[in-house]
Amino acid sequence: MTDQPLSMVVLVSGTGSNLQAILDAIDAGLPAQVTAVISNRPQALALRRAASRNIPTRVIDHREFARRDEFDARLDSLLDELNPQLVVLAGFMRILGDSLVRRWHGRMLNIHPSLLPDYRGLHTHRRVLEAGERWHGCSVHYVTAELDGGPVIARARVEVHANDDEASLKSRVHHCEHALYPKVIDWVARGRLKLAHDTPILDNKQLRQALTFDAPQLMEEAL
Ligand code: GAR
Repeated sequence: MTDQPLSMVVLVSGTGSNLQAILDAIDAGLPAQVTAVISNRPQALALRRAASRNIPTRVIDHREFARRDEFDARLDSLLDELNPQLVVLAGFMRILGDSLVRRWHGRMLNIHPSLLPDYRGLHTHRRVLEAGERWHGCSVHYVTAELDGGPVIARARVEVHANDDEASLKSRVHHCEHALYPKVIDWVARGRLKLAHDTPILDNKQLRQALTFDAPQLMEEAL
């Protein structure tokens, strides 16, 4: 770890509870700083969370672009300008194209509400309930061009309860996200985590499988 905090740009589309968890972790000692927050939705609550902390915000409204690659090009040039060490997707609900993702390879993380590789895509809580799964959770992974398909670093699992509905399950998974994402970012910030040849390396050991935490364990260990 250098003396400088890890500089990050956070990409959001919605509520921004993960952004908030990251900002709270920074307050609690995570050696990183959010230099800007970018949203593809002008009304995202996450933008207000950032502004209330005097973090610069930018909007690239995807509806103003006729083509996906034009949106990507604009985002890519903004990221170039901001030049963060790490790009953090926190509820950013746009699929990013190949060339942008390749340029940020190994420097872009995403959080997804399922135990990847299971349940990529949308409506994960509903699909997990419908399938009668015993376990659900969230995953932090490096972003590749494959949707929700990049190398998984860490997962947190929660047990599905018999009386769970979509809202209760989502809320427990969200809780885990808020502990897991800052933890993984902390590893990056302290120079403990890298990506080499598409394999995450933590403390000089290859993570051939994602580290999986149980929710209570994760909460105890949270920053
Ligand atoms: C989170 O549950 C995150 O995992 C999910 O969006 C939500 C954003 O919540 N992301 C994806 O589904 C990406 N595939 P937030 O805006 O409150 O952080």
